[in-house]
Amino acid sequence: MKIMNNTADFYDIRGNNCFEKNNLQYGIESFKPHVRTPYIYRKLQQFKSITDLKTIRLVDLCCGTATHSIALAKMGFNVVGIDISPKSIEFARYLAKQHKVDAQTSFICEDLNNWLSNAQEKFDIAFMSGSLHYFDRNYFFTKLIEHLNCGGMFTCVETFGGNHLMNFRRKIIASLKPNFRDSITLDGLLKYKEIVNFKQYFDHTEIRFFDFSTLIGVFLPSIIYPLQLTQKIDSVLLNTFYMRSLAWKYVFCGRIN
Ligand SMILES: C[S@@+](CC[C@H](N)C(=O)[O-])C[C@H]1O[C@@H](n2cnc3c(N)ncnc32)[C@H](O)[C@@H]1O
Repeated sequence: MKIMNNTADFYDIRGNNCFEKNNLQYGIESFKPHVRTPYIYRKLQQFKSITDLKTIRLVDLCCGTATHSIALAKMGFNVVGIDISPKSIEFARYLAKQHKVDAQTSFICEDLNNWLSNAQEKFDIAFMSGSLHYFDRNYFFTKLIEHLNCGGMFTCVETFGGNHLMNFRRKIIASLKPNFRDSITLDGLLKYKEIVNFKQYFDHTEIRFFDFSTLIGVFLPSIIYPLQLTQKIDSVLLNTFYMRSLAWKYVFCGRIN
């Protein structure tokens, strides 16, 4: 069935590009060094010391072309990926085969709103990257909790909508390159007040803002700069009240009892 939806069409073009470029990179390796999204798998690594990851059911919500699903399967999780874009899902299945994790991964092409209402499955971990702004958060979180087992966790890494400099840059690039971002992403990235509201749905929560001084690498790609040091500086600066609006990304982690 062809799902007609602007977002799906937008990401289908990206899915097709992946086939054309046949880029097989996954996880943080698929990012340039200066934006290797610190914290992204850190919470999930903690599970390794407690249990065999194969026993943990993880869902990658809006998995796209599965760059994270593959990384998570390689860490040892059993991963189900869901996305509305048929071409992205096609590439996700291809990528999983290429990396020999097809036995540990499965992919569903469906609108997540429908899946949240209709699916019967429960998971220990729900992971999301770059997609929360597409959803009505109250609907999303209320339904998501129903799909989490006791002690289950939701973790997401998202672009912060409260950085006005980055918002401006995104708009400028979008005016020059029409397929740079879809309209929901250009106008709807979440701001601080919306992000702290996620807390109400969980029993334990954590929010970290990151990437400011690391981004120097975007503008000065040829210089060698101390990434680990800039990440540490960011971690301190961006998690204080006044500096938060300079953050580019954030990680949210919520657990239920
Ligand atoms: C910025 S991409 C992120 C992809 C992937 N998580 C990653 O980090 O590489 C956003 C993804 O959300 C998916 N998406 C948007 N709305 C959706 C919906 N209603 N249901 C399922 N997927 C959706 C898009 O198709 C796209 O693949």
